[in-house]
Amino acid sequence: MKKMLLINGSARKEGSCSELSKMTSEKGAAHGYEVEIVHLDDLKIANCKGCLYCKEHGECQTKDDMIPLHKKVQDADVFGLVTPVYFGAESGLMKNFIDRLYALLDRIGPGQYSVRFGKPKKGIVAVSCGAPDGNMTYHGIMSHLVIILRMFGSADVVSGVIPGAAMTPVRESPFAKDLMDAVDFTLST
Ligand SMILES: Cc1cc2nc3c(=O)[nH]c(=O)nc-3n(C[C@H](O)[C@H](O)[C@H](O)COP(=O)(O)O)c2cc1C
Repeated sequence: MKKMLLINGSARKEGSCSELSKMTSEKGAAHGYEVEIVHLDDLKIANCKGCLYCKEHGECQTKDDMIPLHKKVQDADVFGLVTPVYFGAESGLMKNFIDRLYALLDRIGPGQYSVRFGKPKKGIVAVSCGAPDGNMTYHGIMSHLVIILRMFGSADVVSGVIPGAAMTPVRESPFAKDLMDAVDFTLST
């Protein structure tokens, strides 16, 4: 069975990112994927130490809850990142997770890396923010996360910023609906 891995970078289980993760997982299930939503706040993931142990040994020296996630990322057919905007960037939980993916990069030359991403994937980026015009303002965050998913084997990435989280429940947001339509389409191809 094909696997969908969704990483939720919000600590709020009843928040908009959790809801976006659920909505995306429903699409995945409808397309026959085995879905796993990882709530990063449930895990103990230390920050990247920048020690470069992984460049010598091909694995991270910090043996915490990130280690099984490396394999889950490699095994995923669909890899999704769902994050709130915190001070104009992804959440700290999400950034910390991304930094720890560095262990999957092999240095093949000066400034050149090959990424052990495992299977080729489809990617999903869903960003939630409070600002009502955040879909205009936070394109950069979305693009940054899209580039990361491309590095990790997703040629095809669908993405969206869902603005005005405090004003419009995510299930009723036209921005979330557009993103879910795009998810539906990409999973059907
Ligand atoms: C620490 C913090 C920083 C935030 N910074 C921003 C911001 O820069 N821009 C914005 O539009 N919303 C900002 N917000 C609002 C959140 O992005 C918004 O409420 C989001 O929907 C929360 O997602 P959640 O419900 O999944 O936790 C911030 C919220 C917090 C807690």
